[in-house]
This record gives sequence, structure tokens and C-alpha cells, in this order.
Amino acid sequence: LSLVVEQVVAQLNVDASAILLLNPHSQVLTYASSSGFRSNTIQRTRLRLGESCAGRAAYTRELVAIPDVRLEPEGQTLRAIVTGDDFKAYYGAPLIARGQVKGVLEIFHRTELAPDEEWLNFLETLARQAAIAIDNASLFEDLQRSNLDLVMAYDATIEGWSRALDLRDRETEGHTQRVADMTEHLAVRMGMSEASLVHIRRGALLHDIGKMGIPDRILLKPTTLTEEEWVIMRRHPQLAYDMLHPIAYLRPAIDIPFCHHEKWDGTGYPNHLRGEDIPLAARIFALVDVWDALRSDRPYRRPWTDEQALEYIHNQAGKHFDPMVVKAFDEIMLFEQRNLKQK
Ligand code: C2E
Ligand code: SIN
Ligand code: SIN
Ligand code: FE
Ligand code: FE
Repeated sequence: LSLVVEQVVAQLNVDASAILLLNPHSQVLTYASSSGFRSNTIQRTRLRLGESCAGRAAYTRELVAIPDVRLEPEGQTLRAIVTGDDFKAYYGAPLIARGQVKGVLEIFHRTELAPDEEWLNFLETLARQAAIAIDNASLFEDLQRSNLDLVMAYDATIEGWSRALDLRDRETEGHTQRVADMTEHLAVRMGMSEASLVHIRRGALLHDIGKMGIPDRILLKPTTLTEEEWVIMRRHPQLAYDMLHPIAYLRPAIDIPFCHHEKWDGTGYPNHLRGEDIPLAARIFALVDVWDALRSDRPYRRPWTDEQALEYIHNQAGKHFDPMVVKAFDEIMLFEQRNLKQK
């Protein structure tokens, strides 16, 4: 818009130009941009439709031409501008795009203006281009806004699903949320990129979504699983993959649901991946999942203490877990303990 007003001043050979934008909700015209003014009174402009010269141009959708604006009785701002800047002539051209008034393009001149046909045509052309530019810019803002709404709706849906999964698995309140928080924390510590965190969080929230396909008699069995039951239970990562893969925005989050039971030494499932062949996000998550699972009450066993769980995790460094992830986990635990002591 500042480019437009500069062009207007230069091309139409006038002293000053401004653009007022119409807020479509309040129907008020306010200042957006200007060029050539000595005072900054113009920046305080607020006009209802129909009010003063600019309001009239917007309301009637027609060019308002005032040869001697000093004789114009209306509008405090207008009077202040005209006095402060010593203007004589005024033109207000409505900015219309796709049938809607977007604002007003204003022209101020210190001496009389005797515009010819060509000048008026040119003004009209500039006004039309400005209107289209304004329209495109707000289309873009609307689009960004609705994208943001969509992302928020997606994430609310995922959190809802993850609560439903916790209910089925008889997990304690907030278990999956806690696991997701800790996974994000560790991922940052391991230097994973800001951009990957949103996918890591979604993956952590949905890590056991494949358990939806595991029957209650197995999932909720109060004793250890038989070999046949294990075969079914070990399908849950593949079930998660099949569920999530067709959903485009969840595909980048699939590493954790698909690979969270792989083990560093290659003895995990479903693909016996080894070492760094296991996606980093899944290596991180595997530790967090076990840390949380061991300390939780399960139908088939009592919860472990923090000390027991920590000892198990240390013991599994280089076997179940990536040693670097265990190291980062220790650093976080140490840091938290120090924080607790300080409190
Ligand atoms: P989960 O309960 O969320 O456990 C996730 C992972 O934490 C397990 O993956 C395992 O690596 C670790 N973990 C959990 N509890 C123990 C434990 O008591 N000892 C040890 N050493 N590690 C433990 P895993 O083994 O692949 O199991 C996947 C899922 O299978 C479990 O998720 C749970 O839903 C189910 N499951 C595992 N064992 C049993 C069982 O004995 N009975 C029943 N009913 N379900 C089981
Ligand atoms: C202004 O541009 O601030 C005032 C124009 C008007 O009152 O019509
Ligand atoms: C991810 O972005 O979820 C995985 C990246 C990686 O494992 O390196
Ligand atoms: Fe799992
Ligand atoms: Fe889990």
C-alpha cells in the first residue's frame, strides 16, 4: 500500500495521497498508508460509512471530488488535515474488489486541480489495482487463519483419541500426555529440530493406537501372555502403521507408533531394526515408554519404584536402548533432582 500511495503522488502529480481501509466487521474506515503529508493527523482517521468525504466515497461507491475542501463543513479529521497541511483540492476514490468496498484512496493537493480525462482514468486504474492488492492480501490472511484453525482442530482430535486409548488400556489419568511431554523434552535435548517436534508429539500421543486392534481378553489379561497371545500383541505397531499411513498429516508422525518396540540390539519387533536404523524419534520414545510403563500399575503386575525402573534402564543401555538416549535421559533426571532439592 505504501508503494501505491507513492505511485499516486508521483504519477498523478499531486501533493499527497492516503489509503483508508474499511473494516468489514465494524464498517469503519481507518488509516493504512500515506505519502506526502507534513502533519500526521491523517493517521488518526476513523470514519463510519457515509461520514465525511471518504465515508461518502465508500458508501456511494463513487469518486468524490471536492475542488475546495476548505469549504467542506464535515469531518474533524478532515478539517485538521486541511488546515495543518494547507490543502485545497480533495479526491476520494472507492477501492472495490469483487463487488466489495475495501477502502478509499484519497488525494490531497495544495492548489487547484483541473484533471483531464486521462488523469481521471489513471486514478481509476490505480484505485482498481490497489483494491485487488488489498483483496489478495486479506485472502491470504483468511487462508492462514483457517489453516491455523485446522491445525488446532487436528491436534484437539489427536488428544481426544489418545485419552480414549488410555481409557481402554486402563492407563492412569494423563499417562499419555506425560509420556508425550517427556519425549519432546528428550528430543530437544538430543538436538532434534524444532520442525520435527510437532510430529514427535503426535506420534507419542498415538504410540499405542494399534492396540485398538488387540482384543480385550489379551490387552486386559491379568497374567502373562501365551505365545499365541504374544503374536497378536506384537501386531500393534503394524496395525498403527496401517491406520496412520493413509492420513497425510500423520504420516510424518508414524516413526514412533511403528518403531517404538524395536530394540537397539536388533531383538525388537516388528522389523528387528538395529542401532541407528531405528528412527531417532522411536529410540527416544522407547525409553520413555518403558520408564512410564514400569512405574504404572498393569493388570499383569504391580508398579515398580523409580529406583527399580532407573536401574532397569541403565542395565538395558546398549541392549534395549540407544546408549546416547540413556545418557540424555540421565542428564534430564539429574537436572530435575537438582531442581527438586532447590525447592
Ligand atoms: P506396555 O504395558 O505399555 O509396556 C510397554 C513396554 O514397557 C513393554 O513392551 C516392555 O518393553 C516394557 N515393560 C512393561 N512392563 C514390563 C515388565 O513388567 N518387565 C519388563 N522387563 N518390561 C516391561 P512389550 O514387552 O513389547 O509389551 C507391549 C505391550 O504388551 C505392553 O505395553 C502391554 O500392553 C502388553 N503386555 C506385555 N506383557 C504383558 C503381560 O504379561 N500380560 C499382559 N496382559 N499384557 C502384556
Ligand atoms: C481523512 O482522510 O482523514 C479525512 C477524509 C474525510 O474526512 O473524508
Ligand atoms: C522424526 O522426525 O520423527 C524422525 C527423525 C529421525 O528419526 O531422525
Ligand atoms: Fe506399544
Ligand atoms: Fe504405552
